Amino acid sequence: MIAECRLAIAESKTNRQSAVGKRHLFMSEAMSVATESAIHTENLSKTYYDFWGRPKVTALKNLNLTINRGEVFGLLGPNGSGKSTTIKLLLGLIFPDRGGSAHVLGHPAGDTEINARIGFLPEESYLYRFLNGEETLKFYGRLFKIPKKELKERVPILLDTVGLDEKARKRKLREYSKGMARRIGLAQALINNPDLILLDEPTTGLDPIGTREMKDLILSLKAQGKTVLLCSHLLADVQDVCDRITILFRGEMMELGHVRDLLQVKDVTQISTRGLNESQVQEVKTFLSRLGATEATVTHPTTTLEDLFVRIVRDNTPGGNGAYTSSK
Ligand SMILES: Nc1ncnc2c1ncn2[C@@H]1O[C@H](COP(=O)(O)OP(=O)(O)OP(=O)(O)O)[C@@H](O)[C@H]1O
Ligand SMILES: [Mg+2]
Repeated sequence: MIAECRLAIAESKTNRQSAVGKRHLFMSEAMSVATESAIHTENLSKTYYDFWGRPKVTALKNLNLTINRGEVFGLLGPNGSGKSTTIKLLLGLIFPDRGGSAHVLGHPAGDTEINARIGFLPEESYLYRFLNGEETLKFYGRLFKIPKKELKERVPILLDTVGLDEKARKRKLREYSKGMARRIGLAQALINNPDLILLDEPTTGLDPIGTREMKDLILSLKAQGKTVLLCSHLLADVQDVCDRITILFRGEMMELGHVRDLLQVKDVTQISTRGLNESQVQEVKTFLSRLGATEATVTHPTTTLEDLFVRIVRDNTPGGNGAYTSSK
């Protein structure tokens, strides 16, 4: 009897220890996800309060999201769905509701040391209107304590990267068009050579060429191993550059996954080919109907309007090789 009791006590102790062990393992796994990923949120929520301290809007509800390092991630959603709120929480510009947390580059959101490794393009850039493009970048470079020599080299490279030519970079920002303002905002977001770049509606105000350049730039940032979080409601932009997306609606995550998987129409098979004449196309149609294919269409694919626009402008730009910069 005593031996049985001892055995039971020993067993319950072992079970308790293994439960504690499992909890530790679970917690250490959760910790390593938080430290290894670029962004990790757990039950991240944000309620805005009115003047009297009464809850007014719940802008974000229990967001659980992990964004890997080196990924281009799209945060989609209609107006007012909580995209900008999420970015502000990640930067520590606003505080989350109790019970939720966000880690950025392995540290709690808002950590000043970490913020120095983040580039941020806000919805609207509030830059000094009396500085010109070049002075603006030098000003922000000095804030990040970038050595003078390094800054001198980096500023013209960045201005080239965002497509602001010699004339544009000498003009005061108050004279900039919407697209030019977006470009200098982006250059400012990249001045500190950040590891993580948060872009809130980066293509707003850009013409199709600017939009294409922005997308190419995002892809080149990815090729350099950087992580990009992109907020937008312009679906085509997101589709072209993002590895994964999530769709927010009224502050809640509705969908999460790889763009290709989410968009794939699983019950349709598409075959493309070149070099078939009309009678061969007829043969393909007959063959398909023999296989029992229903609603088979054999047609010519169309390009996108964006592709067409970009081709026309590039073909008509002196040099013809796409050397398009914005000084307008
Ligand atoms: N400072 C604030 N005070 C009160 N409510 C706010 C505040 N900022 C945002 N909100 C509200 O929170 C909700 C989410 O706003 P948020 O700006 O995050 O949306 P969004 O997805 O970025 O929208 P948009 O596409 O229009 O930029 C909206 O209902 C908005 O009115
Ligand atoms: Mg917004």
